[in-house]
Amino acid sequence: MRSTSGWRAEGPAVALRRAALERRDLRPDDLAVRVDYCGVCHTDLHSVRTHDEAAGRPLVPGHEFTGVVTATGPEVARFAVGDPVAVGNIVDSCGECAMCRAGQENFCHAFPTLTYGGTDRHDGSTTLGGYSREYVVRDRFVHRLPAGLDPAAAAPLLCAGITVWEPLHTLGVGPGTRVAVAGLGGLGHLAVKIAAAMGADTWVISRSPEKADDARRLGAQGLVVATDPARTAAARDRFDVVIDTISAPHDLGPYLRLVAMDGTLSQVGHLGPVTVETLDLLIGRKKLSSAGSGGIPATTAMLDFCAEHGITADIELLPSARVNEALDRLGRGDVRYRFVLDMSDLDGPA
Ligand SMILES: NC(=O)c1ccc[n+]([C@@H]2O[C@H](COP(=O)([O-])OP(=O)(O)OC[C@H]3O[C@@H](n4cnc5c(N)ncnc54)[C@H](OP(=O)(O)O)[C@@H]3O)[C@@H](O)[C@H]2O)c1
Ligand SMILES: [Zn+2]
Ligand SMILES: [Zn+2]
Repeated sequence: MRSTSGWRAEGPAVALRRAALERRDLRPDDLAVRVDYCGVCHTDLHSVRTHDEAAGRPLVPGHEFTGVVTATGPEVARFAVGDPVAVGNIVDSCGECAMCRAGQENFCHAFPTLTYGGTDRHDGSTTLGGYSREYVVRDRFVHRLPAGLDPAAAAPLLCAGITVWEPLHTLGVGPGTRVAVAGLGGLGHLAVKIAAAMGADTWVISRSPEKADDARRLGAQGLVVATDPARTAAARDRFDVVIDTISAPHDLGPYLRLVAMDGTLSQVGHLGPVTVETLDLLIGRKKLSSAGSGGIPATTAMLDFCAEHGITADIELLPSARVNEALDRLGRGDVRYRFVLDMSDLDGPA
């Protein structure tokens, strides 16, 4: 086993603590990656809050990271020691089902192996995430970090970025498409940047009117205040695509009413049961959809697009020892627009 260290949850009410961690010895198609930067996704916060220590599965969050290859297994041909790389929220899949064959490993019928809290397909161990100095990962699920992207600000592309890229891309967003992004957080601000770069007429729907200047700076035409009935009524039936990134459970009705005829609401934020009033779909033949993560080809396409358009996240970079502060502030909505942890402090004493 290889020794490293990282930030481990010890129960939902308790802060993450620094802990010694073990990584597997390299399999023939594995890489060892020195994790330099790891984004703090709201899913990490959901995971920490609901973590059940008694269930016996360790939790080290983190599923959007960049770093450098430090070792390669004998079958690895695509990467060499020193290559800058990026890893997202899935690290393996069956490779044989129709979804895997179609390059949608994120929808693998045998369920993809998640970067943390997943079950390794070979030894059955629980995967430990990127809030750590080293990660060992199958080469197929490692992405080359395009030149020109800042490695710290690019880390959030690997979860937040790909999660909004997939619906924007597959819904055919392009010049002239009217797009609204609900919730201006980690996912939302990247959705605005990507949609605007695709040429869409892009808007933000937010409960936070003070984000209006940011919305425009990120590339949106403006911001509709979700809690203002006059503004939302004026925006009725206005958007071909609404990407809903809101992290809390909420009524979809007000957001469906903003979707244009035959348009789509893609709900990628809160994942759980929703109640839908059929009339909100019926009137205007509207579609309700969702998406999560992305396959390997889509992730490559997203990274290439972001490199071409100079898109990375707006980040606040913190030493990894301040991870609990980052999670706490994320829970209070106090982030503009993604925390990224600098893992280099894990080289020092605990
Ligand atoms: N589908 C997937 O595969 C996938 C991948 C990654 C994350 N997620 C999920 O996506 C969600 C967003 O993640 P994130 O990292 O972008 O979170 P985030 O940075 O905290 O952003 C969430 C945004 O939602 C809005 N919001 C939060 N609470 C709200 C409430 N009670 N009512 C209305 N709006 C509220 C806020 O925007 P405003 O202030 O602008 O209103 C907030 O900035 C999380 O639930 C996460 O678990 C899903
Ligand atoms: Zn995530
Ligand atoms: Zn599969």
